[in-house]
Amino acid sequence: MFLAGTQEFAESSSMDPFFTELGRTVLARWSAQNFSPALFPAIARTALEENSPADHVDIPALIQDFLLEDEHPFQSQSSFGQPELIVFDHPRFYIQILFWLDGTTDIHQHMFSGAFHVLQGSSIHSQFEFENRQPVSAHLQVGKLRLKHTELLETGRTEEITSGTGYIHSLFHLESPSMTVVIRTHTDPGSAPQFTYLPPHLAVDPIHNDSLTTRRKELLDVLERIDEPSYGPVVLEMLRRLDFERGFFILQNGMGHLHALGALDEALEVFAQKHGPLADGVGPTLHEIVRRDGLVAFRNHIEDPEHRFFLALLLNVPSREGILQMIAQRIPGRPEDTVLRWAEELSETTEQGTTILDAVFPEDLKVAPSKQLEAFLEELRYFLGEGRDSDLRNSTRANPSACEGEMNGLRAALARSSLMALGL
Ligand SMILES: [Fe+2]
Repeated sequence: MFLAGTQEFAESSSMDPFFTELGRTVLARWSAQNFSPALFPAIARTALEENSPADHVDIPALIQDFLLEDEHPFQSQSSFGQPELIVFDHPRFYIQILFWLDGTTDIHQHMFSGAFHVLQGSSIHSQFEFENRQPVSAHLQVGKLRLKHTELLETGRTEEITSGTGYIHSLFHLESPSMTVVIRTHTDPGSAPQFTYLPPHLAVDPIHNDSLTTRRKELLDVLERIDEPSYGPVVLEMLRRLDFERGFFILQNGMGHLHALGALDEALEVFAQKHGPLADGVGPTLHEIVRRDGLVAFRNHIEDPEHRFFLALLLNVPSREGILQMIAQRIPGRPEDTVLRWAEELSETTEQGTTILDAVFPEDLKVAPSKQLEAFLEELRYFLGEGRDSDLRNSTRANPSACEGEMNGLRAALARSSLMALGL
């Protein structure tokens, strides 16, 4: 139930009293500290922990008030959140409630500071650092994004946010809708740009709008749509002429079509020749974009909370050990068995063959569709590490007669897919 009462809507107060009180508390404490930017995250976190919104906010009543009453703080035009409601507003900071229906946030840093609190639902929270950061332009940097920590944030958890490069994170919301409360500054001076990180090697400024590059990408999209034969050659020539930043965006925009034309490897080579070692991370980053986009697309039509959790792990936890650990925390039983169960539930077998998410059973193995799922799951069991260290591999397989070629083919299919994280 997301709305209180279906028949009668009682008169109630606008300007939610809980958040008004919370805002006043933060204002008084921060003002007493001369609005020190360094102290704000701790002040915001402490206020949220002392008086937890998850324990005290009546969400249906809050929604009803927002819809029926007219006196509210200033509402922004922000498209962050699905939607964002502002429940306290002051020139120095504000309090927002963010709804998340299917939103997974990019890996990002912030131009503001404060604290966030899980009001409803739960999220996988990953924190990163960007090592060997090398600015290429004001809007693009190369480096190595390293996962520091992944944890499950349950309802009621509060985390501090600090602006700048010291706090890089992503959230994957497991329930729909999830809700977070954020107490935040408007903007912290000197903290721009608010880089978005493209793992494993790039940081880009998502706000930067080079309108010439935007129009060039749109024009290339036209050439793609009409199957213009010179698309490949003209993109290669652009990559030979353009600087790193603009060349990368042209490459990112066109990589799907370049791949379809069989020209992606050549395009990456041209880019590498032009930019030398600075370009080393570009190929792996583009491949990771494809993998992540695929997982996000799956998540948009998979509603089972356990399956969404599995996709979230594949997207956010880049190691078998980490994935199994997170599953063990949340789902009873052996995590390896849980993965195999989910893989089976997420599989599809048609006359054309069997898939598990985006892992496609290799056609050239000549296995009947009715037998493919069993073979796929068997290989996944090995991919997960069970028997991986054993040199008696064949003797422990359910089907010891399976030839090495078949195993290699299946393993390659898994390694090419979104399930690759399970083998790392
Ligand atoms: Fe954030």
